Amino acid sequence: MTNNLKYFIGNWKMFGDFGSFKIIHKINQYISKNKKFNKCKIVLCVPNTLLDFFNKKLKSQLVSLGAQNCHQEEGYGAFTGSVSALMLKKMGAKYIILGHSENRSEGETYGIIKRKITSALKQKLNVIFCIGENYKEKKNGKTFITLRKQIKGSLEKKFNKNKIFIAYEPIWSIGTNKIPKTNELRNTIKFIKRDLNFFFNTNKCPKILYGGSVNPKNIRLFSSIAEIDGFLIGGASQSSKKFIDIIKNYYK
Ligand code: 13P
Repeated sequence: MTNNLKYFIGNWKMFGDFGSFKIIHKINQYISKNKKFNKCKIVLCVPNTLLDFFNKKLKSQLVSLGAQNCHQEEGYGAFTGSVSALMLKKMGAKYIILGHSENRSEGETYGIIKRKITSALKQKLNVIFCIGENYKEKKNGKTFITLRKQIKGSLEKKFNKNKIFIAYEPIWSIGTNKIPKTNELRNTIKFIKRDLNFFFNTNKCPKILYGGSVNPKNIRLFSSIAEIDGFLIGGASQSSKKFIDIIKNYYK
């Protein structure tokens, strides 16, 4: 365990209703009662329909809210069914997930993701930019090439790197209960860090999260990799017990 701030970020995807506030409430209560958790930052990225309601109910600063995607256009416009970063910011979002593989698979290009990141950064949202290889790319030894393409395709050197998180989410690991081998994952995270340091010409690159089948049982495997700055948690973030157990077990 390290002394650095670690991020535990939930991605609720298309789940949740008003009653789901109890999940946030329980997480909040637990964290506030345990001082040893002041080394972690909790973010829950919820459906847009819940942002304003949760934001009004949330009185503490311990849990922050985030959104899961936005339209690339910055403010308002004739884009039926879409929501902009500006609108999400007004609803209380502090973070936003962009480039998730579930959106890439529906046609989101590198260029569109770049425009989305640009508009989110303009609103001073913290961007959680997802990258990750699919199973075929992994099997063919193309992981690093894929990650580098995704980074170069959607980031710009002038972006504020302090507002960007990179979530490494191997597609084959999302919702499958399959996770990378510890050594492989450590090497991939190191590769991403080196690549980003080079890209931003810095030695203090954006924080790197891991996402893909993180649960209370396997979190101990990840906690041994100090290079990981936090986690993007899908399924397990829809249960307060599982989410709290992940944090508890991480710091065990
Ligand atoms: P799971 O934790 O359900 O595998 O989902 C990961 C994910 O897609 C987070 O963005």
